[in-house]
Parts: sequence; structure tokens; C-alpha cells
Amino acid sequence: MRRAVYPGSFDPVTFGHLDIIERSANLVDELIVGVLINHAKTPLFSVEERVKMLQEVTHEISNVRVEAFSGLSVDFVKQCNANFIVRGLRATTDFEYELQMAHTNRSMNQTIDTLFLTTNLKYAYISSTIVKEVAFYGGDITHFVPEVVVGRVQEKIREK
Ligand code: PNS
Repeated sequence: MRRAVYPGSFDPVTFGHLDIIERSANLVDELIVGVLINHAKTPLFSVEERVKMLQEVTHEISNVRVEAFSGLSVDFVKQCNANFIVRGLRATTDFEYELQMAHTNRSMNQTIDTLFLTTNLKYAYISSTIVKEVAFYGGDITHFVPEVVVGRVQEKIREK
């Protein structure tokens, strides 16, 4: 069975992430979206909220499941019995960091390969950080994130 993990912060999930999820799910038997519990960062959404949003926007893709994880991605990949890490590349600016991560992960576990998918051009400028910034200043984020996420971001920002 060909199983891959797409790890990330997903704070929140964007159309760019969703595009990578849909396309990589077509390449494997099972795709596990791994939502990082990162104690070093203060995300806008709790890990439970991020997992729930991802589950809602991927519920129609039968071979995708969403799970939270902490620690190293390679350990989570191993625990899932997967052999691939999926990551999206938006632009050359992503490349250095992604290459460094892929080499680091590969040096820690030689059985795991990273598959890079180039983000659909129409989403290449979107990031969770930009989405939060636009929403914070009252801008329209409907072109950046799925409908269900729009309301949650606005709600969260109002609470802050
Ligand atoms: O969505 P992000 O924030 O770009 O995802 C980054 C992520 C979660 C893939 C990366 O930070 C990660 O793998 N973190 C877990 C810790 C780890 O494995 N670090 C070693 C890889 S350099």
C-alpha cells in the first residue's frame, strides 16, 4: 500500500493546501494529513480546530484522513506506516527551506522520501500567514480559504 503523510501547521487550511491534498491523494492509496502540535508557535487555531476544519474540507476525499501529531515528522510518518512526505512548493522562496527539511528528514530516516508538488499557479501566492493578516485588517479572504474556514477565521479574530 502506498501511503503518504502531508505534514504542516494548517493554521488555517487554505485553497493552496487543499489543492496539494487533492492532487497527492490521487497519487497514493492513503494520504494522512498531519497537523503539527507546535509548542514553539502560538497558532491562531488550536490543533483540534485545525484538524476539524481539515476534516470538513476533505470529507469527500475517501482516501484522506487527518491526524494531529507532535515531535518529528519522520517519526509520525513511521508511526503511520507511510513512506512518503508530501510538501507543496509555491515559489523558489519555499525551495531552500523545503530542501533543507527534505535532506534533514532523509538523513534521519532513509526509507522516507519527500514528494514535492508544485502548487497550482492560481494559489501560489496564498499562505496561512497572509490569510490571517488580510482577515485581521478586515479584508476579504473568500478567494484564499474554503467557505467554512472564512467564518471561523473572522470569528477567531473578533474574539482576539
Ligand atoms: O505548514 P508548515 O509550518 O510549513 O509545516 C512545517 C512542518 C510541520 C512540516 C515542519 O515544521 C515539521 O516537520 N515539523 C516537525 C518537526 C520536525 O520534524 N523537524 C525536522 C524537519 S526540519
